[in-house]
Amino acid sequence: MSETLALSARGIFKSFGSVRALQGVDLDVGRGEIVGLIGDNGAGKSTLIKILSGFEVPDAGTIAVNGQIRVMRSPKEARALGIETVYQEQALADDVTVARNLFMGKELHRRLAFLKVLDDKAMRVESKKMLDELRLRVDVDQEARFCSGGERQGIAISRAIYFNARVVILDEPTNALGVVAVDRVLGLVAGLKERGISCIFISHNIQHVVDICDRIVMFVHGSKVLDTARSETSADQLIAMLNARSGATISAPGEPGAPDRHPGPE
Ligand SMILES: Nc1ncnc2c1ncn2[C@@H]1O[C@H](COP(=O)(O)OP(=O)(O)O)[C@@H](O)[C@H]1O
Ligand SMILES: [Mg+2]
Repeated sequence: MSETLALSARGIFKSFGSVRALQGVDLDVGRGEIVGLIGDNGAGKSTLIKILSGFEVPDAGTIAVNGQIRVMRSPKEARALGIETVYQEQALADDVTVARNLFMGKELHRRLAFLKVLDDKAMRVESKKMLDELRLRVDVDQEARFCSGGERQGIAISRAIYFNARVVILDEPTNALGVVAVDRVLGLVAGLKERGISCIFISHNIQHVVDICDRIVMFVHGSKVLDTARSETSADQLIAMLNARSGATISAPGEPGAPDRHPGPE
């Protein structure tokens, strides 16, 4: 590939006691590329995401961001490098306003005589612009607890765009969402690509993955078993592979019992 990769993980190992969660995985994410990461529960997907977003440190392996090897010891360090992670629950602080959530950790200030004080007015104005751009109709003055699941995802994605994230990681962002909200989140992910932002998208819903991703990677028991262009595969083929590899039964998308929701705790 001639252009520099947005993110490149090489030979990542991670164990928790006797559990070998990752056994030497590689993952590349090109600029503006949407990579779908799939695999059974316990395959190691979230562990890799936690490593890429600074929540966990790998036992071995390297991570390059924009072509440079980096060590990320905290989520703050990962965010400073342009890696934003959107989880179902952790994305927002419930008891503060939407505007304050959008500027969490990056608050705007103004001078008042010799004091530096929070500039709530500027944050509200900028927040409205951010949400308007994604056509999200959310009151920036309401506390985040009153936002629906889809709105929460949208707010987290807005923040990632506004602060120039290079890579947005979504770990099962659509699990608890209704149909309309899921469509909106999938639309927002497609919008990231248009802005040249890369995305790692984890979902149990294989149809969502094939609908929006450019490349699809499958993990089984902590190893990568598939890394293929979207055009080279299909939802049926991926589901068959998952069933064969993991021994689990995953029904086709749209069938009753299709695993739209994560069956176990994260
Ligand atoms: N903090 C932890 N402590 C102990 N075991 C963990 C921890 N995090 C993950 N694991 C284990 O690592 C394996 C991979 O988990 P995870 O990365 O969450 O898989 P996935 O997201 O693909 O479902 C599982 O066996 C899980 O139980
Ligand atoms: Mg997970």
